[in-house]
Amino acid sequence: MHGGGLPASRIIALMNQKGGVGKTTTAVNLAAGIALQGRRCLLIDLDPQAHATLHLGVQPDGERPTIYDLLLEPRLPIEETVVAARPNLDLIPAETNLAGVETELAGAPDRLTRLRSAVERAADPWEFILIDCPPSLGLLTLNGLAVAREVFIPMQAQFLALHGVGKLMETVAMVGRQVNPRLAVTGVVLCVHDSTTTHAREVVDDLDAFFEQSRQSEVAWRSARVYRPAIRRNIKLAECPSFGKTIFEYAPWCPGGIDYRKLSEVIVSEWDTLRARRAGPESDPAATPPPPTPKVVTTPAARTNPAPSA
Ligand SMILES: Nc1ncnc2c1ncn2[C@@H]1O[C@H](COP(=O)(O)OP(=O)(O)OP(=O)(O)O)[C@@H](O)[C@H]1O
Ligand SMILES: [Mg+2]
Repeated sequence: MHGGGLPASRIIALMNQKGGVGKTTTAVNLAAGIALQGRRCLLIDLDPQAHATLHLGVQPDGERPTIYDLLLEPRLPIEETVVAARPNLDLIPAETNLAGVETELAGAPDRLTRLRSAVERAADPWEFILIDCPPSLGLLTLNGLAVAREVFIPMQAQFLALHGVGKLMETVAMVGRQVNPRLAVTGVVLCVHDSTTTHAREVVDDLDAFFEQSRQSEVAWRSARVYRPAIRRNIKLAECPSFGKTIFEYAPWCPGGIDYRKLSEVIVSEWDTLRARRAGPESDPAATPPPPTPKVVTTPAARTNPAPSA
């Protein structure tokens, strides 16, 4: 899967050590949007909060193995942990016991690559694999980064989030390098977005400029871009998890449904384009720069006075 040429699956970790930024909402609804396009997708819930599992309305029964067992038992076939959550959408669920993995695997030399080995053992690989990471940089997130080829960073377009983006990229790169030298940050997904404020627009401009300036360097985020559309703030997205439904089941034509549908189409069509170009280093999503953004302004760190909101 990590050999030369184009990998068999597009494996994306949704990661941001900051909590409550939209990782799970994005992981679940992107995975559902990809599956609705008829593509085989696996969602891995790597968070002991088990929010992705709950969001899909899956309740582990205590009998069936979960991600916890997959990490603890190196010979367990991944298929035994997979729940067919929706057509084309498989889930490896989590339970709160996942929090114990950190301690239980402390002495295992292969503790960082348990998930990667499990995915590589899959008899029939999924075309897309999305990994919902917890808001921390511990063993669970490291397992996610070891198997992922790409990292998407869900965040909100606020000054503080922007100010930290360079630091965040460095952290992801540093953590990623420990376990996976080929890992690349390929995208930022703007969540809970309010495009009507001047402030949000300026932050997005600055983010575009930040990534544009990174293109020529060797950093792990040189091919990253701010994905469009941004996901608008929409209460339906906050409501649907409590019904165990995706946004497409709960309120498909609300702004949240429209935005996640479009974004999932972008993710699929990018992959199709890369596949059409066939193997070769330039056809790897992690190595392909996105189209240039028109404006180069300043780095996020250079802005010291946040612009007032409209
Ligand atoms: N676009 C949106 N509009 C409104 N509410 C949203 C939107 N996206 C996410 N939310 C809500 O914001 C809260 C945090 O989102 P979410 O759980 O996806 O974040 P997270 O990064 O996974 O959090 P954690 O770090 O705890 O895992 C949730 O209540 C979610 O329903
Ligand atoms: Mg979450």
